Amino acid sequence: MAVSSPRFEVRPLSAAIGAELIGLDLTQPLTDDDIRDVRAAWLEHLVVVFRDQGLTSEQYLAFARRLGEPGHYPFVAGLNEHPEIIAVEKLPGERNNFGGIWHTDTAYLPQPPSASMLLARVVPPEGGDTEFANMYEAYETLSPELKATLEPLQARQCSALADVSRTRSDRVAHEAPKKQSFEATHPVVRTHPETGRKSLYVNVAHTSHFEGQTQEESKPVLQELFAHQVQPQFTCRLRWEVGTLAIWDNRCTLHNPINDYHGHHRLMHRITLNGDTPT
Ligand code: OGA
Ligand code: MN
Repeated sequence: MAVSSPRFEVRPLSAAIGAELIGLDLTQPLTDDDIRDVRAAWLEHLVVVFRDQGLTSEQYLAFARRLGEPGHYPFVAGLNEHPEIIAVEKLPGERNNFGGIWHTDTAYLPQPPSASMLLARVVPPEGGDTEFANMYEAYETLSPELKATLEPLQARQCSALADVSRTRSDRVAHEAPKKQSFEATHPVVRTHPETGRKSLYVNVAHTSHFEGQTQEESKPVLQELFAHQVQPQFTCRLRWEVGTLAIWDNRCTLHNPINDYHGHHRLMHRITLNGDTPT
């Protein structure tokens, strides 16, 4: 049943995924009913978006803490005052945008974040949109034969694959050198702990191979899945304005920030909420 609330209107961003929630002022304390309705809308639409939210970092963290437990990102240090908030930033002179490839956040950790939140602080005059894709639909539209093949498989998720490492290089250059890389094995088809729905949990940025197969053996099926899962009918595209706040569900979505604004500054403040072990 579609979520409704007396306090906000739900305006879908596309048929597949994403909704703007219109009416709440997140600088004000929300009631428990509001939080319940926001969570329900988020579980239904996978990405929820609030416009014109001029939150301070304190207000942003307070809102995040109503939804879950803020976590830490392994590659970039947080803001001095608020280590749970990291700056996702591209300066006018930089070429790489952070995370500029289809992915779900930190799938290479044993317990990837359930949610990621971004609050837009500086946006380019045009461009810098983010695409999202619905991994429930990506799974549900596979043939019964391929679903059955994938169901028992586990995949290796790595932080250090070349294409995704490049998308962090400008950010990580500002940090003290850390040699670390991360790897984890997770089910290819995961069951959402809150909705009970199955989704496709592979992505081109992190997924290296199926356990028990070589990279070469895994490649044809993985390539097919990478192409299948981001078809336009599974996606929406978010245009950011200063004060846009988005929350997505990493357990059943992918996202792709588009790198089409060279010469301009873009700054987002990011909070992730801790998640559980994928099953
Ligand atoms: C992220 C990310 C998307 C964006 O913060 O995890 O992928 O639009 N950013 O900047
Ligand atoms: Mn990301």
